[in-house]
Amino acid sequence: MSDRPIVVVRPNQTGSTASLVDDVVAGASDPTIGQRRVILLDALDVTATDVSPAAGLILATSENFGYMAGAIKHCLEQIYYPLLEASVRLPYALVVKAGNDGSGAVRSIEPIMKGLSFSLIAEPLVIVGDIENSDRVAARELGQTFAAGLEAGLW
Ligand SMILES: Cc1cc2nc3c(=O)[nH]c(=O)nc-3n(C[C@H](O)[C@H](O)[C@H](O)COP(=O)(O)O)c2cc1C
Repeated sequence: MSDRPIVVVRPNQTGSTASLVDDVVAGASDPTIGQRRVILLDALDVTATDVSPAAGLILATSENFGYMAGAIKHCLEQIYYPLLEASVRLPYALVVKAGNDGSGAVRSIEPIMKGLSFSLIAEPLVIVGDIENSDRVAARELGQTFAAGLEAGLW
């Protein structure tokens, strides 16, 4: 079992994005896959010290004004240069909850992660409108896939 956790960052403790993240965390914590710790953090509190020891990062955001949530932007502003200078390169996954689009949030985040040389392990999970049961299943599966890939050494 690796001591390096999966770090999951989301914008706030309430709302539909946070609700989806609960499913992602449940999937990533699936005990049939492994025993790796999953650490859930509020984006406004995250520092590079939280992310540096991670095995991987899962970012979740709502789409606001065609962009990532302000809290996620704040998080990335805090961690970008410290991680870059320490050459921390991680696999990551992205979950976007949007009212009617979501592509702006994806476009705002992907170049920043590319700048960090973080590698996206799967297509961003973009969920638009009311959350359906199938969305919860997809969110859980994303968490499971992330954890399983780490255990298998795929990323
Ligand atoms: C200020 C604001 C701006 C928004 N801008 C967008 C947008 O540009 N595109 C979109 O698809 N949805 C937009 N929405 C809708 C949110 O993305 C959607 O309601 C989402 O589920 C909110 O997530 P939350 O419940 O975690 O806050 C916006 C909502 C707010 C409050």
